[in-house]
Amino acid sequence: GRDHDLAGLRIMVTAGGTREPIDPVRYLGNRSSGRQGVAIAAAAADRGAKVVLFAANVDAAVLAEVQDRAAVRVVPVSTTAELERASRAAAAGAEVVIMAAAVADYRVAEVAERKIRKEDGAGRAPVLELVENPDILAGLVEERRPGQVIVGFAAETVENEAELRERGLRKLARKGADLLAVNAVSWSEGFESGENTLHVLARDGRPETVATGTKRAVADALLDAIRDTLDS
Ligand code: C5P
Repeated sequence: GRDHDLAGLRIMVTAGGTREPIDPVRYLGNRSSGRQGVAIAAAAADRGAKVVLFAANVDAAVLAEVQDRAAVRVVPVSTTAELERASRAAAAGAEVVIMAAAVADYRVAEVAERKIRKEDGAGRAPVLELVENPDILAGLVEERRPGQVIVGFAAETVENEAELRERGLRKLARKGADLLAVNAVSWSEGFESGENTLHVLARDGRPETVATGTKRAVADALLDAIRDTLDS
């Protein structure tokens, strides 16, 4: 049963999508709403865990799902650098780390101090130079404490399920996470919706599980896989 099966566990969850500033009023971002990560935090708390939720640019309406749960501490963050600092500190005191946030792979090399104005461009469009962000998940894997379970996410644009699985398995091996939750995304599917399909791949060779349903139902299925990994 799931009733309080995660009692005593400290779980860190990241949700939403990081934003990288261009100037004081603009940013590079992504379409992650944070719904899946917030649903995981809510489900984990309902099963007895103590949760810290790093919410990267998640709307208040989405965060409402965890608002009245005393076991969830919500910490808002925005940039990848902020998320990295916060996650490294929290991961040191967590048995389970779930990286559901969509993290920007690149940031703007030099953030403009003042708003970039068309009038100042002499008729030429600006060119943004990007630099790579650190891979937070990879860093946490390097610093993993004994017995800690680290879960990565991957949203992939794919032609079919076989390609999704294949890309997922390669990413799982590359990142060194214990579990990788993979879902297909496209222009129309994955982000804003209340439903999701997650393929949960395990590094220990455990068979893949596929969960379809509300983001809450999918969250519970993922937590089942995490519990089984902790127990083994
Ligand atoms: O390689 P990809 O970006 O698809 O990997 C996704 C996983 O890695 C997610 O769990 C995401 O939170 C994490 N990630 C990260 N730091 C990055 C990029 C991704 O922690 N810079």
